[in-house]
Amino acid sequence: MGFKAGVIDLFAGPGGLGEGFTAYAAPNGSRPFHIEMSVEKETSAHRTLQLRAFYRQFGGDVPDGYFDYLRSDISRDELFRLYPREAATAEAETLGGPRALGDKDDDRLVHTTLRKLIPKGREPWIQIGGPPCQAYSLVGRARNRGIKGYRAEADHRHFLYTEYLRALDILQPAVFVMENVKGILSSQVAGQRLFGRILEDLSNPRRALGKRGGKVYRLYSLTPGTRTQSLFDKPDSDWLVRSEAFGVPQARHRVILLGVRDDIIPEPGSLIPEAYPVPAAAVLGDLPRIRSGLSGEEDSPEAWHGAMADAADACNVPALGGDRRLLDGIVRGAGRLTSRGKMFSRYSRNFRGGEPLREWLRDERLGGFVNHQSRGHIRADLARYLFCSVYARLHDGASPRSRNFPESLAPDHANWHSGKFADRFKVQAESQPASTVTSHIAKDGHYFIHYDPEQCRSLTVREAARLQTFPDNYFFEGNRTQQYVQVGNAVPPWLARQIADIVYNLLS
Ligand SMILES: C[S@@+](CC[C@H](N)C(=O)[O-])C[C@H]1O[C@@H](n2cnc3c(N)ncnc32)[C@H](O)[C@@H]1O
Repeated sequence: MGFKAGVIDLFAGPGGLGEGFTAYAAPNGSRPFHIEMSVEKETSAHRTLQLRAFYRQFGGDVPDGYFDYLRSDISRDELFRLYPREAATAEAETLGGPRALGDKDDDRLVHTTLRKLIPKGREPWIQIGGPPCQAYSLVGRARNRGIKGYRAEADHRHFLYTEYLRALDILQPAVFVMENVKGILSSQVAGQRLFGRILEDLSNPRRALGKRGGKVYRLYSLTPGTRTQSLFDKPDSDWLVRSEAFGVPQARHRVILLGVRDDIIPEPGSLIPEAYPVPAAAVLGDLPRIRSGLSGEEDSPEAWHGAMADAADACNVPALGGDRRLLDGIVRGAGRLTSRGKMFSRYSRNFRGGEPLREWLRDERLGGFVNHQSRGHIRADLARYLFCSVYARLHDGASPRSRNFPESLAPDHANWHSGKFADRFKVQAESQPASTVTSHIAKDGHYFIHYDPEQCRSLTVREAARLQTFPDNYFFEGNRTQQYVQVGNAVPPWLARQIADIVYNLLS
């Protein structure tokens, strides 16, 4: 049976989860999921969402103007002026601007819009999204502990999920998908584990809001099991979804809950079989090779090359086999890289990840890459990145720990020798799925060092987006820092698409 489901995306970020749903094609070729409303409070992420909502209006018939905009040939205003109807729909879908759930006026707008949407006849309804994670996340908690007088129970971010509950109560969707960081499993408020309470609340959102009645939901986890086991008769104790098991080239582990309204009886179908791990190089190998920049001094290809030669001198140590010829070869190769990347660069290398990822990621109409420009690094980091990437090449992809660094490359950091920052630098190894792309990449690139020593740099926004499985025609708005944050926050669309498939099979 075909259906046209309406999707509501809360805390939508740049829209990774929504992308997986809307791009999902059912076996009969139809696209059963339509986003009707996305809510996001951050301006640049909202602009990204709105542009993607605009793009979707055209179905398979995206006009040239969209690609002209991505290649910086026309402005966003010009693009929207060319297609006012689609621009207006995209604006309405994203509520006319950034909106903060929990803010009284914005909540009123969200709730009124939801009530107006319900009679629109979309059936079934799906609610997706995850309340923000700072308060749950392990890093967040470590930081919070340092805040004098911090009390978790007073932190409103703990309770932003009640905004999610309120929307559930109004919409009463057939299915919801809630994503969060794994810290949510162990987070405590007033000595009680928060996760148990969240599960209880989600199983009857209206009761959780202190009202009577309401729909009851059964909660399922999406962890792949044995081939013969049904998704719906697994014990629900294992909530952690490993993205790499879904063919995402990244070991991203997140809690994802699937809520199914209890009048819907799932067919006992079999699970998606666990995918083979996809290595980082499968999705990074076709991007143009570019050098990093030099920061803190004048940057030019010659200056950078000189800095690379100095970095090689600093790296000529026993930990790298003490073979100067290896480093000299890298410096020569680096000298051939002059560009730091352009606003738009054409596809010129073969995609190494095979089908169906090629079809998902590449867009021959766009014909290349946007958001692929390197950052600058100070000389000292350049030398460390060179050391790390060569070390990883010689050690089967493993990144060096602090004790493996020569003293000359040790950062001037009080804790460097304490072991606390033993893995402060991480190379994204060529032959393994990447480690989790987090919004920390916006701050520094130390955890996201490219495996190619000649490029000697941290990953670009487009590379991070590739590891997150965003299609190349997915454009991230805002400045580079904002783009990194958006990419790091998202659910990989390739994973989301498989969740959409589970939901489709459940409802059809
Ligand atoms: C983890 S990200 C969501 C990622 C998204 N599900 C995706 O797949 O791309 C959480 C988002 O919630 C947004 N956010 C935080 N607090 C918010 C609030 N009160 N109202 C609306 N959005 C909020 C953040 O700006 C961030 O973009």
